[in-house]
Amino acid sequence: MDLCEAILNRRSIRKYKDKEIDENIINKIIEAGIWAPSAGNLQSWEVVVVKDHLTKDKLAVACYIREFIAESAVVLVICAHKRNSEATYGERGSELYSIQDAACAAQNMLLMIHDLGLGACWNGSFDEDSVSDLLGIPEGIRPVAIITVGYPDEKPIPPPRKEIEEFIHNEKY
Ligand SMILES: Cc1cc2nc3c(=O)[nH]c(=O)nc-3n(C[C@H](O)[C@H](O)[C@H](O)COP(=O)(O)O)c2cc1C
Repeated sequence: MDLCEAILNRRSIRKYKDKEIDENIINKIIEAGIWAPSAGNLQSWEVVVVKDHLTKDKLAVACYIREFIAESAVVLVICAHKRNSEATYGERGSELYSIQDAACAAQNMLLMIHDLGLGACWNGSFDEDSVSDLLGIPEGIRPVAIITVGYPDEKPIPPPRKEIEEFIHNEKY
């Protein structure tokens, strides 16, 4: 798929077919994350791969009861490895770079998921303590994005974007 097409046509998918995803496809998605840029190339992120039905049900509850989470084929819980970045960059590493590393990896994964004909949704609304407890995520590792993945069963209308002028400040803010 052409990159411009992938960037413009990727949509958040919240309705999935009842179909499993092959292990090698999941690895291909994660590999796309690995090739994302990261501060100092520290790659300060990790991912918990969840396929178990009961765990997905509990994740749906931790995300304030979003049914589509339980109905997705795989849930990728992207975590920022705060401790890893802190060792090199101190507070800026733990509070900013590790989160940015994880976000870059997550976006790469979303594009790869789209390219593979799958659909995904980034879920940022969740109770962090519940997710960490449920998945055994230790101190210093922060879950930042819960990405649901599955074969799409909807074709959403693209949500509108702001005009380019609203983003740009020429020379000075
Ligand atoms: C940081 C972040 C948090 C998000 N959290 C949620 C969420 O909790 N639930 C949800 O349904 N979508 C969530 N989304 C998806 C956005 O709603 C979606 O990307 C936006 O509406 C634009 O739609 P599009 O992805 O189809 O272009 C999140 C996206 C990002 C980047």
